[in-house]
Amino acid sequence: MLRAVVLAAGKGTRMRSDLPKVLHEVAGMPMVARIAEALKGIPATYVVGYGAADVKRVLPGARFALQVPQRGTGHAVLCAGRALRGHRGILLVLPGDAPLVRRETLHRLAQACRTGAACAVLTTRLDDPSGYGRIVRDPSSPRQVTAIVEEANAGPDTRRLREVNSGIYAFDTGVLWPALKSLRPSPPKGEVYLTDVVAALAREGRAVEAVEAADPTDALGINTPWELAAASALMRRRIVENLMASGVAVEDPASTWIETEVPIGEGTVLHPFTVIRRGVRIGRNCRVGPFAHLREGTVLEDGAEIGDFVEAKKARLGKGAKAKHLAYLGDVSIGKRANIGAGAVVANYDGKAKHPTSVGEGAFIGSGAVLVAPVRIGRRAVVGAGAVVTSGRNVRDGAVVVGVPASAIRKRPAKRGG
Ligand code: UD1
Ligand code: MG
Repeated sequence: MLRAVVLAAGKGTRMRSDLPKVLHEVAGMPMVARIAEALKGIPATYVVGYGAADVKRVLPGARFALQVPQRGTGHAVLCAGRALRGHRGILLVLPGDAPLVRRETLHRLAQACRTGAACAVLTTRLDDPSGYGRIVRDPSSPRQVTAIVEEANAGPDTRRLREVNSGIYAFDTGVLWPALKSLRPSPPKGEVYLTDVVAALAREGRAVEAVEAADPTDALGINTPWELAAASALMRRRIVENLMASGVAVEDPASTWIETEVPIGEGTVLHPFTVIRRGVRIGRNCRVGPFAHLREGTVLEDGAEIGDFVEAKKARLGKGAKAKHLAYLGDVSIGKRANIGAGAVVANYDGKAKHPTSVGEGAFIGSGAVLVAPVRIGRRAVVGAGAVVTSGRNVRDGAVVVGVPASAIRKRPAKRGG
C-alpha cells in the first residue's frame, strides 16, 4: 500500500517572512496545497510545527503529525511514525517546499521501490546546484546512490557535482524506520538529516536508486523569495501550455496570469496582461483583456467579452454580453447580449455587506453609470450615461432612466417601429 508524508513544519527562515514557508503561494495556491493536489488519492500525513494552525487551515480533512521543536527533516519523518504505525509497503516522503512535482513522477518513484529498491530518490541535474544536497553515485554501479551530501558538509569536489537531491523519496517502510532511528544529529546545525538515511541504507548494502526527473522543474525546491517567483512563473507556464493545447488563444503567455482550475472553452482569446484567478469559468469564443482582472466566482458564457481595465468578481455574463472598457462588476448577473458601457460601476458594497444586482437580457448600461446594489435592471432597459440607479429602485423591462438619482423618461418598452 502507498502512503505519503509531507514535511511542512519548518519556518522557512530564508524566505524572511513570518508566514510559514509552505503557505507562500505558487500561482495563487499555497505550495503545500499544490502538493496535496499532486497526492490526491494517496493517503498523506502532513508534519506541521511552525504556524501549525495556519497550515492546517489550508488542508481541510488532512491527517497531521506535530513536530515541536523542528530538529531536521529526518526528525520530522520520525514525528509521523505514530500516525503511520501499522502501515506496511511504500512510503513517499515529500518536502512541503517542492510544489512543482507531478503525480506521474511520484508514481515513478513508487514503482522503483516496487521493483526492488529500498529507497528511490528523485534527482535532477542543475547548472547551478548551490543550496541542494548533492547525489553521490557508486562509480562501479552508477544506478546506486551511496550518499547525499548537504552543501554545508561538502568538500570542493562534492560541491562540483551537479546532480541534486529533490528531497522527494519513496521508501520501503520495512527498512526506513530502523535506519531512521539509528541516525544521529549532523553538524553544523545539529539536525537529524533525512538525507543521512540514504548513506545508512547504502552501507547496509540496500539498493538506493536515483530516479532522474523527466522534467527538471519537478524537482525544484523553494527556499527564497526569488525561487518562489521563479516557481510561480514555471507553474503559470504549465497552466497556459495546457490551455493552449486545448484550443485557447493566449496572445502573450508571459504577461498572462492564470491560476489553476480555470476551465476555458475553445476559441476564446486572452489578450495580454490578463489576470484570471482561481474559481473562474470561461466559455467558448470569449474575449478577455487586455488588462482585465477576473476574480473568483466569475463566469463568462459563450461569446461574452471583457475588455480593458475591467474587474469582475462573482459576475456572470450571459452569452454575448459585453463590458469592454473600464468597469467594475461585482456580485452581478448580466443577461445575454447586455452591454455595459465604459466606466460603469456596480456598487455592490454598502460599507457593511455585499448585495446582488441583476441586469436583464439585452439591457444597455450607459457610460459612467452606477448601479447601487441591490437593484434589478429589466430586460432591454436603458440606463443613461452618468445615471445613478439607487438601491431598490428597480428599472422595468424596456424602461429608460436618466439622471441622479435615476428616474424614468420612458416607463415601458417603446412600441415596435415607434
Ligand atoms: C533539503 C535536503 C536537500 C535537498 C533539498 C531539496 C535535507 C537535510 N536536505 O534541504 O538535500 O537538496 O531539501 O529542496 O533533508 N522541515 C520540517 N521539519 C524540520 C526541517 C524541515 O518539517 O525540522 C520541512 C520544511 O518545512 C521543508 C522541508 O522539510 O518543507 C525541507 O526543509 P528545508 O529546510 O527546506 O531543507 P533544504 O535546506 O531545502
Ligand atoms: Mg528546502
